Amino acid sequence: MTFDFDRRIDRRNTRSYKWDQNGKLYGDPDILPLWVADMDFQSPPAVRETLEKRAALGIYGYAIRTDGYLDSIVQWYRTRHGWTIEPQWITDTPSVVTSLSLAVELFSEPGSDVVLQSPVYYPFYDVIRSNGRNVVKNPLSIRDGQLRMDYDQLESLFREGAKLLLLCSPHNPGGRVWSREELLRLGELCLTYGVTVVSDEIHCDLALPGHKHIPFASLSPELADITITCLAATKTFNLPGLHTSYTVISNPSIKRKFENRIKALSLHMAQHFAQDAVEAAYREGGPWLDAMLAYVAGNIDYAIDYLAEHLPEVKPLRPEGTYLLWIDCRGLGLDVAGLKDLMYRKAKVVFNEGSTFGNEGEGWLRINLACPRSIVEEALESFCRAAKEK
Ligand SMILES: Cc1ncc(COP(=O)(O)O)c(C=O)c1O
Repeated sequence: MTFDFDRRIDRRNTRSYKWDQNGKLYGDPDILPLWVADMDFQSPPAVRETLEKRAALGIYGYAIRTDGYLDSIVQWYRTRHGWTIEPQWITDTPSVVTSLSLAVELFSEPGSDVVLQSPVYYPFYDVIRSNGRNVVKNPLSIRDGQLRMDYDQLESLFREGAKLLLLCSPHNPGGRVWSREELLRLGELCLTYGVTVVSDEIHCDLALPGHKHIPFASLSPELADITITCLAATKTFNLPGLHTSYTVISNPSIKRKFENRIKALSLHMAQHFAQDAVEAAYREGGPWLDAMLAYVAGNIDYAIDYLAEHLPEVKPLRPEGTYLLWIDCRGLGLDVAGLKDLMYRKAKVVFNEGSTFGNEGEGWLRINLACPRSIVEEALESFCRAAKEK
């Protein structure tokens, strides 16, 4: 089956977070948005068909969670990731960020230190701070054109008492798909110091051709025992507006505590549309996903080559996963305000400004490449032209 990822679909006036806030946020309704992480591609045909059937019911009543839905998740991880999970380890949650926030609330003490690896997806900071905990950073460094973990600094944070780590795997931004060795070394430290790991693996299915995601909890039973894995089909199949996700927790007491809190907040009821979409995606979306990843890999090659030729002052990190390109723009000599001015006013494009991921991201930009090639071409052309005129 072939899929048309080149087709430009007009998403304006659809209540799109990315396309319908241009005027409000950037003062120009026609600016080109390549920021928030959803795709400008239609979801797999099986998802659309199942949702159309569900919508045609006309009655949007309370729904149940089916065994088939749970089985579709179990089968997906078995075949796609070689990871065996049990249906009873799964707890539905409205969103991965909800799961992260509940995990911080439940598995760290008020006022305690929670570790993240910066620069990182900005809600990691919010869920720690809004729960009254302290963000402690284990900054990533760059070696051989890739983000790397600093284990010595991490160990000192654990030695000083931090008991919870928020891991982003694959990493956003920067697109690292952590290797087995890197994760094992991290895991060793967590086991030694009694640290619980909240592993956000929402990008797990977006390892690019040639790279393989390793679920942290799959590394050993001991690591599974200290891990809350936060997952969703939403990033994989472009369903984030359906607002559905789940956790996988094999440790019964952690699972019970987490599930009790979900019930206390009455977040446990099945969503009317989401389950059908997720099950259809997992059962029938594999070929679409493979084709989409190949297309995005082409966009990444295109963008890296284009920038090397037209704006060599900026240095992208080549992602191993995700559809996000993390670009070092410090060579342009602009501060945060200058980069925003370059994007929004001069180039008429929106990429994510890097300092929102932590001060390590200052001078960097993140580009969402899950869009038709022609949009990538247009955005890069405008950006490079404006950067050269500055
Ligand atoms: C690492 C990471 N976690 C979580 C999310 C958002 O997940 P959700 O919409 O389920 O809260 C994103 C979205 O970009 C992300 O990159």
